[in-house]
Amino acid sequence: MTRQKLVSISGSSSVVRRPARGKFISFEGMDGSGKSTQISHLASALRRRGIEVVLTREPGGTPLGETIRALLLDVNNRGMHPTTELSLMFASRAQLVAMVIEPALERGEWVLCDRFVDSSEAYQGGGRKLGSGIVLAMQRALLGGRTPDLTIMLDHDIAESVSRARARSLETEGKESRFENEGHYFFQRVQETFRKIAARDKQRVFLTDARRPIQVIHEEIVAEVSRRFSDACDGEWTGDNPTAKMHPRR
Ligand code: ADP
Ligand code: TYD
Repeated sequence: MTRQKLVSISGSSSVVRRPARGKFISFEGMDGSGKSTQISHLASALRRRGIEVVLTREPGGTPLGETIRALLLDVNNRGMHPTTELSLMFASRAQLVAMVIEPALERGEWVLCDRFVDSSEAYQGGGRKLGSGIVLAMQRALLGGRTPDLTIMLDHDIAESVSRARARSLETEGKESRFENEGHYFFQRVQETFRKIAARDKQRVFLTDARRPIQVIHEEIVAEVSRRFSDACDGEWTGDNPTAKMHPRR
């Protein structure tokens, strides 16, 4: 059974106990920067310590969201207007927040999400030149300002990461996605916007150099999660080692 700290709510005649709210961690970065790899390593590390984890992704993560994802990534939809693209990203996100993220956090589970609003700011705000203002306004209007407790941002070279993503899509889908079809200057704007967000939101965003070996990056992420959420976990984490002595106190 999951070990969890229970919060007592005193009423006049009864005491209701519910789990403390879970943590919401997003992963951001260029296509192919290693987000999925690091998410799955962190999820394993957390689960070994008895923490219940929900893994999800954007766009997608719900049946409706996956349908929207297919529209967004399809190279045949080349004529999609940037504002249509942004609206579809938020449509998928609104569904994901309402149906998956909020309920999981309420149950006391941790949510690890592959991309969130920062991707819209980087790709639609920066890449498509819509600007940050409209993205942040939609975040406030449609998501009530919902923001991750922590964002792990993987910083990588454009050429290396995008060519990895293209190779993976060719292998698994037989074609590149609509975004992977974009040119160098598009990705340069995306990368610049990610770095701008990291500099602006230092408290929330942990920027890490994704050019290093997978295990080195993983250990740094585990150390950061442990430091940020010392209220939720006992002691120091020493990496994804099943014998490490960690006890979650949710
Ligand atoms: P993303 O989810 O950001 O698109 P992935 O985690 O799918 O990226 O990684 C893309 C590819 O790069 C995969 O083949 C993965 O094994 C590889 N990869 C991920 N991280 C590293 C790393 N630090 N060093 C070398 N290769 C990596
Ligand atoms: P993803 O599957 O995470 O791509 P990858 O694994 O290659 O990093 O995301 C799909 C694409 O959608 C990706 O190219 C980035 C783009 N995207 C946006 O343009 N805006 C957004 O808000 C999100 C969430 C994704």
